[in-house]
Amino acid sequence: MAKNRSAGSTGRGHDFVVVANRLPVDATVDQDGTVQWTRSPGGLVTALAPLMRSGDGAWVGWPGRTEEDLDPFEADGIHLRPVPLTQQEVTDYYEGFSNATLWPLYHDVIVPPEYHRHWWNTYRKVNERFATEAADAADEGAEVWVQDYQLQLVPAMLRRMRPDLRIGFFNHIPFPPVELFGQLPWRSAVIEGLLGADLVGFQRSGDAANFLRAVRRFTTHSTRGNEIAIDPGTQADDADDAHNTGRRQVRAAAFPISIDAAHFDEVARSEPVLERAAQIRRELGDPRTVLLGVDRLDYTKGIRHRFKAFGELLDEGKITAPGTALVQVASPSRERVEQYQALRHQIEESVGHINGQHGSLAGAAIYYMHHSYPMEEMAALYLAADVMLVTSLRDGMNLVAKEYAAARHDLGGVLVLSEFAGAAADLPQALLINPHDIEGTKAAIMRAIDMPERDRRRRMRALRRRVMDNDVRQWAQAFLSTLQALTQER
Ligand code: G6P
Repeated sequence: MAKNRSAGSTGRGHDFVVVANRLPVDATVDQDGTVQWTRSPGGLVTALAPLMRSGDGAWVGWPGRTEEDLDPFEADGIHLRPVPLTQQEVTDYYEGFSNATLWPLYHDVIVPPEYHRHWWNTYRKVNERFATEAADAADEGAEVWVQDYQLQLVPAMLRRMRPDLRIGFFNHIPFPPVELFGQLPWRSAVIEGLLGADLVGFQRSGDAANFLRAVRRFTTHSTRGNEIAIDPGTQADDADDAHNTGRRQVRAAAFPISIDAAHFDEVARSEPVLERAAQIRRELGDPRTVLLGVDRLDYTKGIRHRFKAFGELLDEGKITAPGTALVQVASPSRERVEQYQALRHQIEESVGHINGQHGSLAGAAIYYMHHSYPMEEMAALYLAADVMLVTSLRDGMNLVAKEYAAARHDLGGVLVLSEFAGAAADLPQALLINPHDIEGTKAAIMRAIDMPERDRRRRMRALRRRVMDNDVRQWAQAFLSTLQALTQER
């Protein structure tokens, strides 16, 4: 089913190629059955769209539909190169190896990762397909930026096919400590896959440090500071690489990702969004305090810990419903993966339990929505919330925390933020919590509820400054200019 294109040809000749699991578009099917593609909302595509349009860029990714062999197409001025996947490949590569092996392993084994050889084999095969498509799209000497844990083998595969390319990789999720990473039966192959890049980017310096330790432990390459000197003996392809003079160097460094802050700020200032925020509070019965959680329904987000803390505060009479309401948006995610199904049951049982105990005809304690919403509705919810709860047990960054700050142009609201989210390093003015410490989390929630206005405004001003000054465009620029500097000499 893969199209018959030879790797190594320069194909359509794009000088900038992004490779990500998903294309940045969503399909809608018209009544007559024709498929329309619209750009999906998301920081990454926002940051890269100008580059994709002004330069001759292309985006390689899976279109999200199976059993379909689409030709390259344009959407919103972006050149898209679809990589087809069969249903079985989605099961083994995406739901299996990516989201039931790597995802839990890289998030501190919050649930046990599963190791299956047939999942790994499909992961390899699918990574090869992405690499082939990228090799075909890229012009001589082009820059290729590979995204995230679903595609960790692509950099080395691509380098083998096209040694002329400048290759960057960015890991959006944590990179685990070596003691956990070591569980992976294919740990050396994954590290070698990543080392095909010239620059490997992580969210936090701690992730880069974990990766460098894994390089020392599981490969024969040596490291010095943030640089890895590739031992040519282990990478046969490098030995006869005409573009390589001597030993190749790879850099591992932190580039904390952000959001399109100015756009979020603008949306949150718009009249319809301000009106909607007021309406949300009225719809909730004008409670004294609105707490808010916004997450993909994922076990890494600590939603159960959050509910436990909230439920205990109600049990103890420190807060009462419906005077205090918790709004929880949990967007559907990876619904065919067993652990996500189990989590959904637990969360919904817990909502039922707390509402059964503390809700009344006057209003519920928890308003739970298993939906995703457009950006305008999210901005209105952020504006309506007195306290934002981000309680991740482990999180690469957590962009919800940054969105909350970007939306609060009124300097209202308090952010309670887990120290296990990458965002904690960027947003130290939040009330930082250890979500495993239920008493500490309860105390932080009460402190947020009772925080004097002056203190609240001071903290929010500082949070906003951090977010507005470091947006996703700067993130992309910082990464790409480092990649350019590293590869300039070649
Ligand atoms: C995380 C990952 C992304 C992923 C997203 C949504 O942010 O880093 O790579 O796209 O979750 O997950 P999904 O499985 O729906 O793509």
